[in-house]
Amino acid sequence: MALNLKKSKESKAEPDLTVTGASAAENAQSSQEGSGAEGKSSQETAAGTKSTQEASEENTPMVLAENLVKIYKTSDLEVLALQGLDLKVERGELTAIIGNSGSGKSTFLNMLGCLDEPSAGKLYVDGRNLFKLNQKEKDLYKRSTVGFVWQNNGRNLLPYMTAFENIVTPMLLTDVSEKERVQTADELLDLVGMSHRRNSRLSQLSGGEQQRIAIAIALANRPKLLLADEPTGSVDRKTADYIFDVFRHLNSDYGQTIIIVTHDVELSKKVNRVVAIRDGKISSERILKEKYTNAFGTGKVNWMEEDTQEEYSIIDRAGRLQIPRHMLDELALKDNKILVSMENDKIMLSAPETKKEETED
Ligand SMILES: Nc1ncnc2c1ncn2[C@@H]1O[C@H](COP(=O)(O)OP(=O)(O)OP(=O)(O)O)[C@@H](O)[C@H]1O
Ligand SMILES: [Mg+2]
Repeated sequence: MALNLKKSKESKAEPDLTVTGASAAENAQSSQEGSGAEGKSSQETAAGTKSTQEASEENTPMVLAENLVKIYKTSDLEVLALQGLDLKVERGELTAIIGNSGSGKSTFLNMLGCLDEPSAGKLYVDGRNLFKLNQKEKDLYKRSTVGFVWQNNGRNLLPYMTAFENIVTPMLLTDVSEKERVQTADELLDLVGMSHRRNSRLSQLSGGEQQRIAIAIALANRPKLLLADEPTGSVDRKTADYIFDVFRHLNSDYGQTIIIVTHDVELSKKVNRVVAIRDGKISSERILKEKYTNAFGTGKVNWMEEDTQEEYSIIDRAGRLQIPRHMLDELALKDNKILVSMENDKIMLSAPETKKEETED
């Protein structure tokens, strides 16, 4: 297929089409409000030669979160949803975020999508400080830099329109020609395996099929960053695998930067990089082992059984470290004190009693 993108396995270059990432529903609304000037500037940026600013943006990571804090305050309660989250995502990476319910995954993703603001900290996407954007810049950012796929795809879709019309809608705000809109929508339908349902209304499609259309909509205007919050949460195993393969194909063949929140252990084992959030900050990170990087789709790996990733703990800027719970349990600490010592080039953590016994020996 010749999706109107640069295939960028080597260069990881950004697609040079006009970009918008808003949902069909959001775009339908904003096109009624009218915003020709923004549409034009977005088009100029995409089509024109690269400015110095754009060139320098390409040298920055796609996402840089520094000490992000989010406190939700209700009348009787304060919830610390993010507690100093640090994360860097390079351009062209496919990253999965995992973590227990309530650990802050959606809170973080919503901030990346400019749908929420932090209580403290910094967040840069594509070289821009998201919390310095005014309302107009935020609207443009949502249309031009990020695409969002939710678990509940009702947020992305217009049920009374066909699959094709839903995908075309985000492009109506740009000055992409009608011919190009049709071509791109058909290519995206093909990419998500839904060409055969091109003219079906969304209400006539299954949940998994609707989710595939939601991905096509999020991609319609070539967002630089694709965000997906539990995109396979409401579909069966086979559909989840299919949807995940679409994400991986987009990443490996088109250099699309993608961040996926998932509870799906099997899927997360197939990703190059998985970051785990615990209590509102990144606690550990798993990286796919070298020998598995080209094993996708070969059928030679049992992704559930094999240990495909190397796990690392994350040290925060103050030198703090979250130790995996099962290791702490094995140390059976009596209180919250632990002995830290250096042995050759290793830092050793031990329970005080154990250390004492060793010394007496
Ligand atoms: N609008 C809100 N008001 C108050 N508290 C909130 C709000 N949104 C989220 N929280 C709280 O913030 C914490 C983090 O929520 P978040 O939705 O980010 O979790 P999550 O990791 O996405 O969980 P899940 O896997 O269940 O989707 C939770 O304790 C949640 O109750
Ligand atoms: Mg969530």
